[in-house]
Amino acid sequence: MILVTGAAGKTGQAVVRALLANGQTVRMLVRNETQLELMSSLYDTDIVVGDMTVESVLSNVFDGIRGVYHICPNMHPDELSIGLAMISAAKNSGLNQFVFHSVLHPQVQAMPHHWQKMRVEEALFTSGIPYTILQPAAYMQNILVEWQNIMQLGIIRVPYSPESMGSPVDLKDVADVAALVLCERDHIGAIYELCGPDVLSYQEQATILSEAIGRSIYVEQISLDEWKVQANDVGLSTYSLESLLKMFSYYDLYGFWGGSHVLRNLLQRPPTSFMEFAINQNKKNQQDLL
Ligand SMILES: NC(=O)c1ccc[n+]([C@@H]2O[C@H](COP(=O)([O-])OP(=O)(O)OC[C@H]3O[C@@H](n4cnc5c(N)ncnc54)[C@H](OP(=O)(O)O)[C@@H]3O)[C@@H](O)[C@H]2O)c1
Repeated sequence: MILVTGAAGKTGQAVVRALLANGQTVRMLVRNETQLELMSSLYDTDIVVGDMTVESVLSNVFDGIRGVYHICPNMHPDELSIGLAMISAAKNSGLNQFVFHSVLHPQVQAMPHHWQKMRVEEALFTSGIPYTILQPAAYMQNILVEWQNIMQLGIIRVPYSPESMGSPVDLKDVADVAALVLCERDHIGAIYELCGPDVLSYQEQATILSEAIGRSIYVEQISLDEWKVQANDVGLSTYSLESLLKMFSYYDLYGFWGGSHVLRNLLQRPPTSFMEFAINQNKKNQQDLL
């Protein structure tokens, strides 16, 4: 059985779907009863409710597990200590493989959520556990938070330069690789950067979306102060807010992109292009409206 942590989240559910599609049995670690109820209505898996920061949860959740896919909650201040505790509990359980969901360019100290992931990677090197590390670029699906504005107003709002470059990757492709590395034996010790096939600015993504959707989409750069007001309205934690501001400043200066050969080789098919993603998302949107 494979344990997936952060399993009710965006990444977790994609990984669970891919593992189930590969015929694996899965245990999901979810945070609370509400997630338990929803996940058990969606997936045929074992589900454990527990807080990842609590040691007793980790000491029990590995029973009968052969491999873990560890996903730390997004922008969590204790990402490093959670990772270390997870590695320690996994080691005590004697499992065969620890797969860590890291991020592209974890070496960047200017972004705290990258730096914490790098320290978790470092701990894996010395843990003695057979490990595999995946380093995805930003997901194409991140743009879905702006989808309503895109469809209704024809606007994408970003708090950094619309010209900064990214290599958005389809979360489904990332999840397919997650399942692959857990189902094949020859990925132990590997670190894979997972980037989408197109290196694109937001401006170029808007042009592709315009074509896919059939309406003009514009990118509007908003100031960090404007973004902060919106973020406070949705109640982001101080750590999340500060980490995101640092991320936006980094993206503004340097972009966030890499090459896609590794992903293509692993999938043994072309990774999903941004145009394919946009067309599929638009179709899904139209079906949902019916
Ligand atoms: N988005 C990207 O483009 C991207 C790219 C590369 C890497 N990543 C990394 O992917 C990881 C996952 O991101 P995501 O967007 O999938 O996260 P997410 O949707 O927030 O999922 C995290 C899940 O963990 C749960 N959780 C939070 N705190 C917990 C705790 N103490 N114990 C147990 N469960 C807890 C959350 O529950 P609640 O909903 O109740 O909080 C949620 O279900 C992050 O580490 C992120 O840095 C993301």
